[in-house]
Amino acid sequence: MTAYCLWDVREIHDHDAMNDYVARVTETVTAFGGAYVVIGGPWQIVEGDWHPAYPVLIEFPSLERAHEWYSSELYAPLRDLRHAASTSDAVFFDGTAAATDPQLVRSSDAPLADVCFDLYRDVHKGIRHGLFHAIERAGHLDPFDDVALGEQRNRIERLLHLLDVHAAHEDDYLGPLIERHLPVLAAQLQREHAELDACTGEVRRQLTALGCLTGADRRFGQHRLYLGLSEFTAAYLQHQTTEEVEVLPALNRAAPLDELLEANAALVAAISPGDMDGYMRLIVPACNPHDLAELYGAMRAGAPDEAFAGLLDIARDGLDQHAYDRLADDLARA
Ligand SMILES: [Fe+2]
Repeated sequence: MTAYCLWDVREIHDHDAMNDYVARVTETVTAFGGAYVVIGGPWQIVEGDWHPAYPVLIEFPSLERAHEWYSSELYAPLRDLRHAASTSDAVFFDGTAAATDPQLVRSSDAPLADVCFDLYRDVHKGIRHGLFHAIERAGHLDPFDDVALGEQRNRIERLLHLLDVHAAHEDDYLGPLIERHLPVLAAQLQREHAELDACTGEVRRQLTALGCLTGADRRFGQHRLYLGLSEFTAAYLQHQTTEEVEVLPALNRAAPLDELLEANAALVAAISPGDMDGYMRLIVPACNPHDLAELYGAMRAGAPDEAFAGLLDIARDGLDQHAYDRLADDLARA
């Protein structure tokens, strides 16, 4: 998915104008998820006659994103300024053609080293865990066991409620931050949230319909629900990848750390105690010991003693004895 945009600035006619351009262009590139890879020299010519005058290489998450930047209202005045002030050659390259599995290349190429603060990791791990378990249970559930069917409906409705709250909190508390620094990605996330909202509506319709079915239709309806959950999960995983592989590194490059921390604190403060309980029951079995020690260490610093004791109870419920003892040791040492 990665795209590379190469310029060779052959001649500068107006140095003051180009200095103005250089001072203002980076924030437009960053806003579209891009990053400068090469600015000028040094370079080595190893073959042929091409002698770059002043090469500039910019990396974007995709060719589409590169073109969005190049034709954006944000960049247009600077592009005109550069055209008036200099003469260049430019080529855009799509990295997709070399990939055998675009998704694999995309995630393995993600600049995760740029991530100082991860807004998504723990809760997204928990959501994946909840979705996978919902599919697994739906696959082996006896559709004629009314008690099991009722429990399934309650579990899936609780999960979908948490996903609704999660998306709303992302829109309310992370949305303005992303909009400020990465406007194109912000618009994409809003579109994806609306699409996923429609998908959860379909799963809810399948859940409701299932309770009214009898005989062979009940078995058919349970399989439809299994497939619906699978389809929804595929879309949800893709969305999480966008957030964690594209948005998160770009946001960490573009936004000051205190803005990330402030937005995250406001989001966490908005979670009701009941929803926090639900999230933690998804997160605890989904995370590794290091994630849990970090998460519980931060919660211990920010939560009243009584609330933290309740959160520890969730860890005791969700972990085996060895894993819980490891968490208790890590917290005692911290
Ligand atoms: Fe999201």
